[in-house]
Amino acid sequence: MKNWYAVIGDPVSHSKSPSMHEAWFGENGIDASYIPVHVPAGTAGKAVAALRRLGASGWNVTVPHKQAIIPYLDEVDPIAAEMQAVNTVKVLPDGRLLGMNTDGPGFVRSLEERIGQSLSEEPVLIIGAGGAANGIALAMKQAGYGKISVCNRTVEKAEALCSRIGGEALRLEEAADRLGEFGIIIQTTPVGMSTATGGLPIALDRLDRRTVVADIVYSPLYTDFLKAAMNNGNVIVDGLGMFIWQGALAFHEWTGKMPDTLGTRKRLIAEMEE
Ligand code: ATR
Repeated sequence: MKNWYAVIGDPVSHSKSPSMHEAWFGENGIDASYIPVHVPAGTAGKAVAALRRLGASGWNVTVPHKQAIIPYLDEVDPIAAEMQAVNTVKVLPDGRLLGMNTDGPGFVRSLEERIGQSLSEEPVLIIGAGGAANGIALAMKQAGYGKISVCNRTVEKAEALCSRIGGEALRLEEAADRLGEFGIIIQTTPVGMSTATGGLPIALDRLDRRTVVADIVYSPLYTDFLKAAMNNGNVIVDGLGMFIWQGALAFHEWTGKMPDTLGTRKRLIAEMEE
């Protein structure tokens, strides 16, 4: 039987993952397909049983199942275990299910692809302390970024994250005051997404022009946060690269091949402009 893959989530119909992975199968001469599967909250266990029975070769996991799926898997890798969140499931040769998380490592790869080198000597500020921020903080720590600060509206969540990774927790106003100290600033809150109110999660008056400014939101591609940084002359990293790279790392786990991430970026941007 031909290999097939899926993304499970709710909502899932808007996902760009199926067309991205199908293009990669084509480019790599792999006869496989990738489908979106609508799985309502509370039914991750049933979905895993069905995917197993129907012979899926692997799948991605999105909202609201990243944590809920864990009890139904046979193993989770260290990053996914630490984060208590899985975005990629690999079916091992003996049929066991391995949960992984490529979101944080995907961010690090997209940052380093955009900049052309590792910036691990630079002090990092992460804005937000939710699931995405946790994954990014952990992956950056593992990639050798040694100075990580986290600021959040609810500072206790930043403190909890920092106690796990050995970072420094800040209030939003404190971080805004000290903005010039950071070589990399990463915006991980939903502020700026088309469905949210837009605007800035933190004041940018003290932004140094040499700081690399990243946002993980990719719709819109240029959030108000990134636009402010661009107007200030900063190098920016938009959220599309993280989306592509989390998929690319999953694709590599499943197939052993690394897709053309820059070509994919051009294609997705052309589609977004249509
Ligand atoms: P995700 O998994 O995408 O990271 P999440 O776990 O719900 O989503 O986390 C959202 C993050 O964005 C949180 O850090 C949240 O701050 P709180 O912990 O104070 O809730 C932050 N966030 C959401 N809306 C925000 C806003 N309007 N201004 C500042 N931070 C906001």
